[in-house]
Amino acid sequence: RSAHYYYDIIRDNGFPLPEEEKPLYGNFCEGFAWSVATASYQIEGGWRADGKGLSIWDKFAHTPLKVGNDDNGDVACDSYHKINEDVDMLRRLKVNHYRFSISWPRILPDGTTRKINEAGLNYYHHLIDALLAVNIKPQVTLYHWDLPQALQDVGGWENDTIVKRFRDYADVVFSNLGEKVKFWITINEPYNVANIGHGYGTAAPGTVIIKDFRPGTAPYIVAHNLIKAHAEAWHLYNDRYRAKQGGIVGITINSDWALPRNPYKQEDIDAARRVVEFQIGWFAHPVFNGDYNKVMKNRIRERSFAAGLPKSRLPEFTPEEVKRIKGTYDYFGFNHYTTVLAFNMDYKNLQHYDADRGVGTIHDRSWLDSGSAWLKVTPPWFRTILNFIKEEYGNPIIYITENGISERGNMNLNDIHRIHYYENYINQALKAYLLDGVDIRGYTAWTLMDNLEWATGFAEKFGLFYINRSDPSLPRIPKQSATHYATIK
Ligand code: NOJ
Repeated sequence: RSAHYYYDIIRDNGFPLPEEEKPLYGNFCEGFAWSVATASYQIEGGWRADGKGLSIWDKFAHTPLKVGNDDNGDVACDSYHKINEDVDMLRRLKVNHYRFSISWPRILPDGTTRKINEAGLNYYHHLIDALLAVNIKPQVTLYHWDLPQALQDVGGWENDTIVKRFRDYADVVFSNLGEKVKFWITINEPYNVANIGHGYGTAAPGTVIIKDFRPGTAPYIVAHNLIKAHAEAWHLYNDRYRAKQGGIVGITINSDWALPRNPYKQEDIDAARRVVEFQIGWFAHPVFNGDYNKVMKNRIRERSFAAGLPKSRLPEFTPEEVKRIKGTYDYFGFNHYTTVLAFNMDYKNLQHYDADRGVGTIHDRSWLDSGSAWLKVTPPWFRTILNFIKEEYGNPIIYITENGISERGNMNLNDIHRIHYYENYINQALKAYLLDGVDIRGYTAWTLMDNLEWATGFAEKFGLFYINRSDPSLPRIPKQSATHYATIK
C-alpha cells in the first residue's frame, strides 16, 4: 500500500495530514527538556538491600513462569550500587534531564509511614546530588508499578484506602526530596496498571489469575483509585509544596494511535476511536475534562446490562470528586510507541475489558518490526496523536515521557533501527510543535540501558546502552544510537 492510503485515513478522520516524509529542520523551544528514562524495578536491583521492603514485582517475578526465562529484578542493572556509572552514561548522552522512578517499598518498607527507611531515601539523595552536580535535572516518577507487597496484601489498588496511602507516600517524598526535584510524575501508565496488572494478569499483581476471574471489573476499580490517588498527590503538592518548591506535577498516560482497518467503514472508524478513548481517554478525560468519557460510559453500561448485571461495571465519580479531579495537572505526560489498525469485534465473554472496548487490532505488513510483538515503527501517527491530545484536552503543555524501540538477540551495538526510529519519531514531534502548534516541552527516550522488560524479562532490549549480563560487573556499553542521540538535540 502506498503512503497515500494512510494519508486518506487521517484526512477522513479529520486530523491534519502528515507532511511529506522529508524531514523538517528546526528546533524545539528554549529550555526544551531532553531526557532519557528508567524505572526502579527495571534497573535498581538491591531487592532486599538496606531495609527495602518487598514489592509486588519481587513477588510476581519470583513466581515461576510469570516472567520470560524466569528473569527477575533482584540484580537488574544493579543501579542501586552504580550511581556513578549511570550518571556517566547520562553525561555521554548530553541530556539535560533524567527520568527515573522511586521504589515505594525502598522508602516505606510496608507501604505506610509507620517506618521510613532512611537508607532508601539516601540512595535517591545521592543519585539526585550526582545528577545536579553535572547539571542534569531529575524528573521523578512516584509510581512505576512496584507497589509495596504489604499494601497488595490488603487489596492494593482495588482497596480505596490506597488513595490515602499514596498521598502519605507522596508527602514523604515531596518533603524529603522536593527541594531538589522540580518535575514530578505521579503515576506511570495507569492503563497498564489497571488492564495488564488486573485485567490480563500478565503483570504484577496478576490479580485476574491469583484471585478470581473478574477481568472486566477489577481494572475499572483499580483505575478509579489510581485517578483519585493521582489527584490527591497533585492537590497535596499544590496546597503544601508548590509555593516553597516551585515544581510541576502531572500524570503520564500511554496510548497507541489507532487507524481504522478499513477507512471507508464506519464500524472500523468507530472502533479506532474506541481504542483511544479506552486508553488515553480513560484517564485523561477525568483529569483534563472531568469524569469518564461518554464512549466508555455507554459501552460499559451496555455490556454490563447485557451480561445481566444490575449496574455498570464502570464506577462513578460523585460530583465533588469530578470537581476535585478535574484540572489536577501542570502538563500532559505522554508515553507513545506505535500504531494499530482497528476493526469492530464482538467477544463472547461480555464481562471483559476487551468486550467493552469491542476492538480487534492488527498491524500493517509494511510496518517495520522491533523486538516487541506489539511495537511496529509508525512515525507519522506520532504527530497525529500529539495533535489529538492538543485538540481533545485543551492544548496542554506536553512532555513526551517515553518513546523508543527494542531488539532481541545477542549484543548488537550497530543498532541502526533505533537511530532510524528516534530520527523519525523526533522529527514528527518537531513537526507537531513547529507546524501544528502542539505545546511540546520535552522529549524522553526509553531507555538509558537494556533492563528488565517486565514479563518479557531481559530478552527485549530497549537500551541506548547495552549491558553485558554475563560479566558480573554489568558493564554499560554504548550502542551507536547512544552516540547518535547525543547529537540530535
Ligand atoms: C512502558 C513502561 O513505562 C516501561 O516501563 C516499559 O519498559 C516501556 N514502556 C517499554 O515497554
